[in-house]
Amino acid sequence: MDMRARRSVLLLAAGLVAAGPGLAQDNPDIVAAGKKVYFSRCLACHEPPSTVGLTDDEIAQNEAMLPGGEAVPTRGPTLTHLIGRTAGTLPGYNFSEAMKASGVVWTAEALRVFLLKPSVAMPGNKMPFNGVKRAGEMDALIPYLLDAAK
Ligand code: HEC
Repeated sequence: MDMRARRSVLLLAAGLVAAGPGLAQDNPDIVAAGKKVYFSRCLACHEPPSTVGLTDDEIAQNEAMLPGGEAVPTRGPTLTHLIGRTAGTLPGYNFSEAMKASGVVWTAEALRVFLLKPSVAMPGNKMPFNGVKRAGEMDALIPYLLDAAK
C-alpha cells in the first residue's frame, strides 16, 4: 500500500471513531446519565462545563462546592470548551509540569484513557482522583463531556 492510500485509510478510521461517540452524545438519555456521573464524581473539583439545562437543584449543588474556587490547590481547572483543547494550556490555572508537558489533546479517546486511571495515564499529574472504574459510568460520562464541554 503506498503512503497516500495508507493515509486515507487512517483518515477513514479516524472518522469512524469520531462517529461512534457522536451517536451517544446526541442521545439525551445517555447525556443525562453522564451528567449524573459528573455530578457525583467530578463536581467536587470542577464546575459543570456548561450550565445549559441544569436544574435549580444542580445549580445549588455546584454553588455549595465553589467556596475558594480555583485558589484551592486540589480544585481543578474549568472544563468548559475542554474538547479539542491541549492539556495544561488553560490560561490562569496552575497546572502540574506533567500536565503541561503531556501534549495531550482532549478528545473522547484521550479522556477515556486519562479518566480510567489518571495517575497511570499521566504520571506526576496532580489530579487527586482514582479513576472512573465502572464501564457504564465511563460510557455515559464521555458523551456528556462531548456534549457539554465542546
Ligand atoms: C479531588 C479533585 C478532582 C476531582 C474529583 C476531579 N478532578 Fe480533574 N483535575 C483536578 C486537578 C487538581 C487538575 C489539574 C491537574 C494537573 O495540573 O496535573 C485536574 C485536571 C483535569 C483535566 C485536565 C484539564 C486541562 O485543561 O488540561 C481534566 C480533563 C479533568 N481534570 C477531568 C476530570 C473529570 C471528568 C473528573 C470526574 C470524573 C475529574 N476531573 C475529577 C482535580 C480533580
